[in-house]
Amino acid sequence: MAKDIGKAIEKSAPGSKKTYERSSKVLAQEIVGTVNFSYPIYIKEAHGSRVVDVDGNEYIDLTMGFGPHILGHAPKVVLDALREALDRGVQWGLHNPYQEPLASLLVDAVPCADKVVFCNTGTEASMYCIRAARAFSGKSKIAMFEGGFHGAHDAVLVKVDPASPVDRPTYYTMGQGIPKETLANTMMLPYLSDAAFDLIRKHKKDLALVMVEPVQGSNPRLDQGEFLKKLAEVCRESEVLLMFDEVITGFRMAYGGAQEFFGVTPDMAIYGKAPGGGMPLGVVAGRGDVMEVFTRQFDIYRDDRTGGPSIFTAGTFSGNPMTMAAGTAVLTYLRDHKGVYKHLAEQGTRLADEVNRFFAQEELPGQMANALSMFYLRVQPGPMVRTARDIDRSMKAADDLVTLHMLQHGVLVPPVHLAYISAAHTVKDVDTVVDAIKESFLEVRQQGHI
Ligand SMILES: Cc1ncc(COP(=O)(O)O)c(C=O)c1O
Repeated sequence: MAKDIGKAIEKSAPGSKKTYERSSKVLAQEIVGTVNFSYPIYIKEAHGSRVVDVDGNEYIDLTMGFGPHILGHAPKVVLDALREALDRGVQWGLHNPYQEPLASLLVDAVPCADKVVFCNTGTEASMYCIRAARAFSGKSKIAMFEGGFHGAHDAVLVKVDPASPVDRPTYYTMGQGIPKETLANTMMLPYLSDAAFDLIRKHKKDLALVMVEPVQGSNPRLDQGEFLKKLAEVCRESEVLLMFDEVITGFRMAYGGAQEFFGVTPDMAIYGKAPGGGMPLGVVAGRGDVMEVFTRQFDIYRDDRTGGPSIFTAGTFSGNPMTMAAGTAVLTYLRDHKGVYKHLAEQGTRLADEVNRFFAQEELPGQMANALSMFYLRVQPGPMVRTARDIDRSMKAADDLVTLHMLQHGVLVPPVHLAYISAAHTVKDVDTVVDAIKESFLEVRQQGHI
């Protein structure tokens, strides 16, 4: 393997570099920072478990669109549904018969869902869920856990100060441009700690909603079931609404998502990614009485509050037929092919076990956090990360090098991000990924970077 990995990739992917040079003149930001590789790779097409870059290099993809492509890239069932919808026109903004079939599939599958509302992204769903919880409860504060992520709107862009006490985390806004006052209505809770329950009880009078990722994207693991059960109990007895952010876990951990997997039913849940079949989707799901705040609909000309709380929503593309058709196709397929979940669980668990065994045998500073088909590969010595406080980014340079070596071995693993396998990843693909990780770590060590 090449000593100078950057030069080697530049040689095999010159078109990506040229695209980057053109793009950076007109794009202030490509997509989001976490998608930036230390060598830019531009993808021109994707099928099954593979993506192809603009130079024609093919990679086994572990990014999977950052989660949506649970059946792999461009599955036939979804493409057929999209083609059928496309011929009728892509968007009308008016009521259409495409929403009800997807809504019915969601209500049947999701334990907490009496009703759902569609929007276009997980971020939008998170924003609406917070608004609905505040309207329903008449309270203002929201709480979320250290290490969690709930989209890119102001109310949730909060980061814990890692120097603050674990059981009383203090926090600041993530980046500039967010008024400090936003923090007054936000609380951060310690993850996997009973101190979180004390904070919820203490602030219950002001607390409208507790948000939790049942599996944190930054920290995939499976041993938090008891914590989630206790959290639901504490929220119930404190009369604080609980929301599961299932944007990552929904229809991925199980057909009924994390709620089915852990056997815990919150009051509300939000979805995105997988149930959109690769099209932009956001969903707010919840208990019937809470979801009434959407049904009542705020009348902008007559601020009439006699009928109970109502909220305002708007979205030109919400419930558009293309997204609805893709989502209906993927959920119908998953409902009728539950074997997909067995494959994802078996292959995902095997991948992480083999890689972690190798790190231990070779005494390498690597760890692969895992929850079924979701992974986080880190260049970090043991012990395994338990909460966000344990994440050590001091070996970031080596992390970047591993990512580049993996590209040379034909595997695209996202830098600083959760990785996924899909139903289209075969046993042989997973073998190739395991070998690529092993070889990449050994090469980076041979070159003295770890
Ligand atoms: C747990 C979680 N919630 C919300 C979001 C936001 O979803 P979107 O990117 O569709 O806005 C994400 C995105 O990755 C997520 O991982």
